Amino acid sequence: MRTHGKATGAWARDVAHFGHWAPRYERSLLQRVFLTPIQTATIAEIGREVSQPQAILDIGCGTGVLLRHLAGSYPLARLVGVDAAAGMIRQAQAAVPNGLSLSFAEARAEQLPFADGTFDLVVSTMSFHHWADQQLGLHEVRRVLGAEGCFVLTDVVVDPWLSWAFAASGDRIVTARRLEAMLAAASLRRKRSASAPGFGLRHGRMITVARPGHLGVTAQ
Ligand SMILES: C[S@@+](CC[C@H](N)C(=O)[O-])C[C@H]1O[C@@H](n2cnc3c(N)ncnc32)[C@H](O)[C@@H]1O
Repeated sequence: MRTHGKATGAWARDVAHFGHWAPRYERSLLQRVFLTPIQTATIAEIGREVSQPQAILDIGCGTGVLLRHLAGSYPLARLVGVDAAAGMIRQAQAAVPNGLSLSFAEARAEQLPFADGTFDLVVSTMSFHHWADQQLGLHEVRRVLGAEGCFVLTDVVVDPWLSWAFAASGDRIVTARRLEAMLAAASLRRKRSASAPGFGLRHGRMITVARPGHLGVTAQ
């Protein structure tokens, strides 16, 4: 079977790799020099966009580090993380400090185990380019978001002339135009984009803030 994105076998190998990496993931150099600054920038954008979310979902949450930080900012919110890799979920559950109420489940972006409109904030950092079917995942994001919800997606977005360089890797690194079209197809409207630092550089348009609605129209 082939989805809109990666062949299912390639995707399963990718996720298995994350599962094996999970116990060492948070101590990796990649985490320190690339992912942590990106997560910090994402949290700052969330703070600009939403005031007191009641229910937050992190898709492709890895070891749950972003949610642990968000729990500090939004102590009254219900915080949930999903990841396709069982190893990541085990690690995330083991890392929850006493007194914090976070829940984690093994699940794919393309099939979220939640009722329609469950969350008022959905976030995803550096996971989207791994999704086997990005369009289906975005439809799921829209489905689980409330009408006034907010989606903050952080991932690499490339200029068209660079797309060819990533195509061979099997990852689905998209252009800004393609991302906007996919969001629109899922009834999500890109509201704005922001850059994020990583490897000591600033990467343009990595953070996309979107709301339910169609181009030029919000659902509110
Ligand atoms: C690079 S890690 C990012 C983890 C975390 N968000 C962070 O910022 O450190 C990508 C994660 O996405 C997960 N993933 C890949 N495809 C997925 C899918 N279709 N649905 C949910 N999670 C997925 C992987 O298992 C992996 O844990």
